Amino acid sequence: MNVYESMPTAQLDEAIRQLEEQAAQIKARGLSLDMARGKPSPEQTDLSRPMLDLLTSATELSDQGAPADNYGIPDGLPSARQLAADLLGVDAANVVVNGSSSLNLMHDAVCNAYTHGIGGNAPWCQQGEVKFLCPSPGYDRHFAVSARYGIKNVPIAMTPTGPDMDEVERLVQTDPTVKGIWCVPKYANPTGISYSAQTVRRFAALKPAAPDFRIFWDNAYIVHDLYDEGDELLNIFDALAEAGTTDLVYEFASTAKVTFPSSGMAFVAASPADIAELRAAFAVMRVSPEKLTQLMHVRFLPSVDAIKAHMRKHAAVVRPRFELVQRKLEEGLADAGVATWTKPRGGYFVSFDGPEGSAKRIVALMKELGVTLTGAGATWPYGQDPHDTNIRIAPTYPSLEQLGEALDVFVVATRLVSAKLAREARQA
Ligand SMILES: Cc1ncc(COP(=O)(O)O)c(C=O)c1O
Repeated sequence: MNVYESMPTAQLDEAIRQLEEQAAQIKARGLSLDMARGKPSPEQTDLSRPMLDLLTSATELSDQGAPADNYGIPDGLPSARQLAADLLGVDAANVVVNGSSSLNLMHDAVCNAYTHGIGGNAPWCQQGEVKFLCPSPGYDRHFAVSARYGIKNVPIAMTPTGPDMDEVERLVQTDPTVKGIWCVPKYANPTGISYSAQTVRRFAALKPAAPDFRIFWDNAYIVHDLYDEGDELLNIFDALAEAGTTDLVYEFASTAKVTFPSSGMAFVAASPADIAELRAAFAVMRVSPEKLTQLMHVRFLPSVDAIKAHMRKHAAVVRPRFELVQRKLEEGLADAGVATWTKPRGGYFVSFDGPEGSAKRIVALMKELGVTLTGAGATWPYGQDPHDTNIRIAPTYPSLEQLGEALDVFVVATRLVSAKLAREARQA
C-alpha cells in the first residue's frame, strides 16, 4: 500500500516539507555520482590485466596451425571457436567468432536481412512494414538497431519467467510482418530475470508466420552469476532439436564483461544454413577477425571452467554492490509501499518500478541532486515507457561508497516524487 496515498492531507504536506528539506540538504553537498553506466568497475577490468602479458614479441602467433599474425581464418581461430561453442553448448562448426562486440554482430545480422533477406526470401527492405518484438523493459541498444532500419518496435510485456509467451506466440504465428524478437534470456537487461525452461521450449516450438523470422538470442550474461549457484538456462539449440525446429535462432555472446569491454571476442551461433548465410555476409563486411585478441583470450581462459573461475572473481567484486542495492532499497522504501524492484542473481542491472508517472520526475530530480541515472524510458522502444514507472539501476561501476550515497539520494527522490504525486492526485 502506498503510504502517501493513505495519509491525511496535513500529514502528507508535512511529509513533503520534510522530504524537500532533505533534498535541499543533499543538493547543497554538490554531489557528482553516476549510477547510469552498465559497465564493469576498474577492479573488474583489472582482473584481466594478466592476459596482456601472455602475448610478447617472442610468442608463437598461431593456434592449431592457424596463423594469428595475418589475414585469413574468417570464422575465428580454432581454439576461439571451440571455446565459444563450449560456452554456448553448440557445435563449433556452427559458430563464428568475429569482432569485439556482439552488438555489432547483431547489427550486421539485422542489416544483412534488411538488405539481402534471409533464406532466399525478399530483403526486409522490400517487404513494406516489418516488425520486431521488444520484451520491455529491455536493452535500449537492441531497440536502437531495429529502429535504425525503420523496423517497427513492438513492446511485449516481461513476466518473472520471460516475455509474455502467449502474446509472442500470437504475434509471431499469425503476423508475417513480425521478423524478429530481441531476447536476453539469462539475467535480462534490465530485469535480471532468466527465462524458464518452459519459456525456452515455447520459443523453440514457435511456428512463425514469416519464414524469415529469427529470434535474436543475446546471451550476454551467460556466465555472469553473482552466486555459486546461478540461474539455469535451458540451451536453446537443445530445445530446438527437441522440438524438431531449425533455422530459427541466432545466438550471440561475447567476452565483453568477462575481460575487457570493446576489446574482447564476440561470437554468433546458428543453424548450419543460417550460419552459412551470416558467414557469407560477414565475408563481405570484414576481411578477417582480430586473431591476436582471440589468441590472448584462449591462452588466458582456455576452457569454460577457466571462464567460470574468472567470473567468480568478478562476482566477488560485484555481489556486494548488488546486495547493497537490495539493502538500501529495502531499508529506505519497503515501508512506503511505493515501489517494486527486481532481485537478480546475476547480470548487470536491477530494474526498479515506482508509482505511475514517477520515473521521469525521479530521474530529473536525481540529476538536480547530483546523481546521473539511465534516462527514464530508455528501457522501452522509442524511449516511451507507457506508465512512466521504470528506472534501470546499474550498480557495477561506482565504488561501494559512491553507490551507497547514490542510493540514499535515490530513496529521498523516490519518496519525494511519490508523495508529491499523491498530493497532486488529491488536488485534481
Ligand atoms: C544485453 C546486452 N547485449 C549486448 C551488450 C553489448 O555487448 P558487446 O560489448 O559484446 O557488444 C550489452 C551491454 O551492456 C548488453 O547488456
